[in-house]
Amino acid sequence: MKHLPFDALMELESGVIDEASQVINRRLSDMPSFFHDQDAVQAQLEEDPVLYRTYVKQNPISSSLWNIGSSVIEPGTVGNEYFMTKGHFHLKEEAPEVYFTVSGSGRLLLQKHSGEIEVKKMAPGVINYIPGGWAHRTVNVGEKPLIFFAVWPADAGHNYGAIEEMGFSRLVVNDRGVPKIIDNPRYAPGLVK
Ligand code: F6R
Ligand code: ZN
Repeated sequence: MKHLPFDALMELESGVIDEASQVINRRLSDMPSFFHDQDAVQAQLEEDPVLYRTYVKQNPISSSLWNIGSSVIEPGTVGNEYFMTKGHFHLKEEAPEVYFTVSGSGRLLLQKHSGEIEVKKMAPGVINYIPGGWAHRTVNVGEKPLIFFAVWPADAGHNYGAIEEMGFSRLVVNDRGVPKIIDNPRYAPGLVK
């Protein structure tokens, strides 16, 4: 395997990674079942807002052990639930990941198959380490975009199905302008390994 150096430029204001090899745009219509208030989902589907964008840069000239990327989560809510990512386990369960927040204000939900859950704060300068075996979802609880950088093993892969089926046991909601963590009434542990 050949490993050569490469560089990338992330615009700190926008979170855009220059010449990203992959740009993923996720709209509400890409993930309607992930939000708990299905009436609110239906009401907002006509507008179908972009919830977040992810930019991934792979080494353009040789294989590499790491992927680098950035994510930009827009501010807003679906009902009272803040805009958030789908969230996933890595297919290669032991693969870890590191997030570095550049701007905005967020929460990182971390959940194991056993149901163990942790909620971490994301703010400019905060580095979050995500160990293998923990599903991870990011939530924008601020009024401007939440922008963070990420690095993870290139062969980690993504398992979205488990989280789509069982959800996280906690929701992050806007309670009169203040982010609040509440129990997810639709949480269905044990449905999927
Ligand atoms: C990569 C990773 C992030 C997310 C991105 C979007 O392993 O964790 O780059 O992929 O923040 O979130 P998802 O993938 O859950 O839609
Ligand atoms: Zn990940």
